[in-house]
Amino acid sequence: MSNKKYHLSEEGSETSIELPVLSSTLGQDVIDIARVPETGCFTFDPGFGATASCESAITFIDGGKGVLLHRGYPIEQLADKSDFLETCYLLINGELPSPSEKEAFESTIKAHNHVENSVEQFMSGFSQGAHPMAMLCSLVAAMSATYHETTDVSNADDRILTIHRLIAKMPILAAMCHKHFTGQPYVAPSDDLSYSENFLNMMFGAPDKEADISPVLAKAMDVIFLLHADHEQNASTSTVRLSGSSGANPYACIASGIAALWGPAHGGANQAVLEMLEEIGDEKHIDEFILRAKDKEDSFRLMGFGHRVYKNFDPRAKVMKESCDEVLKELGLENDPLLKIAKRLEQIALEDEYFVEKKLYPNVDFYSGIIMKAIGISPEMFTVIFATGRTVGWISHWNEMLSNPYRIGRPRQRYTGYTKRDYPG
Ligand code: CMC
Repeated sequence: MSNKKYHLSEEGSETSIELPVLSSTLGQDVIDIARVPETGCFTFDPGFGATASCESAITFIDGGKGVLLHRGYPIEQLADKSDFLETCYLLINGELPSPSEKEAFESTIKAHNHVENSVEQFMSGFSQGAHPMAMLCSLVAAMSATYHETTDVSNADDRILTIHRLIAKMPILAAMCHKHFTGQPYVAPSDDLSYSENFLNMMFGAPDKEADISPVLAKAMDVIFLLHADHEQNASTSTVRLSGSSGANPYACIASGIAALWGPAHGGANQAVLEMLEEIGDEKHIDEFILRAKDKEDSFRLMGFGHRVYKNFDPRAKVMKESCDEVLKELGLENDPLLKIAKRLEQIALEDEYFVEKKLYPNVDFYSGIIMKAIGISPEMFTVIFATGRTVGWISHWNEMLSNPYRIGRPRQRYTGYTKRDYPG
């Protein structure tokens, strides 16, 4: 830790304050601003572009270089050599498991591979065609009622039990949302299939007939979950941390993360990308959409491009693109018209001055929708699948926060409303 002197100036006056600078193991160091209120001011940072909201040892992003590390391991290496469940273990525990730890972890997750009968009753309250994100958010919030007795947030064993339950049950709930949305009967989870095969079987199988799942598609599904597993202090993770900082029930906290993820600027972008590609419809319309994206008077944005942190290629997008090529080849869809539009759009955007200058590169959502559509997943399910993968990240951050000293999150504001006035009469 070092100290640095900062001069804060207001018209006609200047205040000096010495603030500690805390070092990080990678990336920018941070200025501890706890003493700033002594100057009579708060700091002002809407959108948190300059504010580290917490200390964390889980994930590191270097947005300038396009680097993403989970517990120090590059995402490309995890996507190539690891699998989703092993990456879950890594995020939660900080280290890769030994073979026996991996086996034990997989059996623990399998032991929770079921949901209560009450979930079906709960689902029956939703109309067919209700958005799957709406259903998922409610189902996860409802878990706080089901598991109320075993969620003492101050108890480390209860927290681990919650983590295992969520990792195991999210794909079941996600697949149930899909079946309800499409008006098909639910398929029970199977203990004989891998995590991703089980998910695809619950999505595409029938109660009396297992789905035919190719290893290429099962691997692609696993990679999708893995690439979404964590992304440090994004909007939904920060929401989970903020909800959790009040000591709230963890399932309710995860439901708050799901709600934050849903928006098109965050996880909802994958559905929006596909809708945009369909709206473009033909390569000859691309220029028109590029012009719209650059027009300040038009609210349209090129979905799947840009990121608050990445000012370079999103490393997840590179892996997703490779996986996309494999899936389309496996399914004989190499000439898929949407893929052609996507590839041309990417090429144009990477060369266009507007996108180059603003460092707007393709992000993770740009290719994931094309893979999921090719697998046969409806666009309304895309963000649900993002949420299923991201749950481990949310709950790892929640657990990290609760395992260390923490205070309730309580931002301040710059008040711009009326000064005090009297009620009339
Ligand atoms: N298309 C056209 N212009 C864009 C885009 C885009 N996709 N993204 C940013 N810009 C422009 C924006 O208009 C602004 O221009 P100016 O400086 O002239 O006002 C500039 O680039 C900076 O944009 P910003 O909105 O200040 O950047 P941000 O960091 O607040 O927003 C973002 C980041 C991801 C919300 C934004 O890039 C965006 O809306 N992208 C499209 C939606 C999307 O793909 N979201 C998925 C993000 S990755 C998955 C996840 O982690 O959730």
